[in-house]
Amino acid sequence: MQDWRVFLFDEMDTNLETLRSIVTDLTQEIASVQLSSTSEAEEFRIKFLGQKRGLITQLFKTIPNLPKEDRRDAGQLLNALRKKAQSTLDAAKEQTRSHSTDLPEIDLTLPGRQNQWRGSRHPITLALEKITDIFHRMGFRIAKGPEIEDDWHNFTALNFPEDHPARDMQDTLFIDEGDQQKSRTLMRTHTSPVQIRMMIAGKPPFRMIAPGRVYRNETITYKSYCLFHQVEGLVIDEGITMSDLKTTIYSFACAFFGEDVKLRYRSSFFPFTEPSAELDIWWEIPEHPDGGRWMEILGSGMVHPNVLKAVGIDSERYTGYAFGMGVERPAMLHYDIKDIRIFYENDVRFLAQF
Ligand code: PHE
Repeated sequence: MQDWRVFLFDEMDTNLETLRSIVTDLTQEIASVQLSSTSEAEEFRIKFLGQKRGLITQLFKTIPNLPKEDRRDAGQLLNALRKKAQSTLDAAKEQTRSHSTDLPEIDLTLPGRQNQWRGSRHPITLALEKITDIFHRMGFRIAKGPEIEDDWHNFTALNFPEDHPARDMQDTLFIDEGDQQKSRTLMRTHTSPVQIRMMIAGKPPFRMIAPGRVYRNETITYKSYCLFHQVEGLVIDEGITMSDLKTTIYSFACAFFGEDVKLRYRSSFFPFTEPSAELDIWWEIPEHPDGGRWMEILGSGMVHPNVLKAVGIDSERYTGYAFGMGVERPAMLHYDIKDIRIFYENDVRFLAQF
């Protein structure tokens, strides 16, 4: 097969000008060619660069027929054309190598990849979600407050005396000492300041819980950490009594720990509740000499009249209860985790188990 252009050129019109127009033609053709498979690339190679009948090869063969003074230019023209064709061919080969349709078919019998990990939720997130869900179903609203608090919300409004040890540098992580004690900022040491914020922002009755992080300047050990989570509860209305508190907590404990849960209240002290009580849960440990032990899970009590006064609620008309529950401890019991620090280390081997 001989291209008509070369045929004409060879037979009757051997001059540089005609050669130039043929080269321009071929250059355009090469530039617009689409080579998407190895067979197309091979066709292209044979057509332009083939050893015997390739167009460019044939054009080279006509050089001796040109006038002497034109042969040099003709050589340069054709060399450039050959280069262009070669690089087009090389690029096409590179392309078809990377996504060739001639590759062997995918082996569908190969086993799947084993190392694909799916993310999981943090055990504390799971516990918090379970707790908030139970209270939500009992008609509690979910409230949030800031983790950076001021002294007034964290202590004063909650009826802490000026010299209460909890205000001490030992427990509280202060941020800014402020001009006055009232205005100094700190990392909240409990979720109780959210009670204050809610009561100031709204009007009774209140029925809310506030889950969140709290911070304490404690020595870090297997059982205490500088940050942990609490869920605060607050109910204020006319005629609320301690038995409302006990009923609510009991329903919660049944839902969270199971119907056969065993609870006990111990009288306790908090500046912002009167009377105050701590709640323990009986945790069965088969290998323990007593068959288990009591574990403290929350602090609670009837909201102190001074707290209601601080937020402008009539303490003659309204009463209420509050509780503050730790989240890490029940989660440790539930998941049989012996060291609290593991919650905060972000070790995937631990996290992937949830
Ligand atoms: N804020 C208390 C604590 O952090 C818990 C608590 C909350 C106690 C509400 C009574 C009422 O220990």
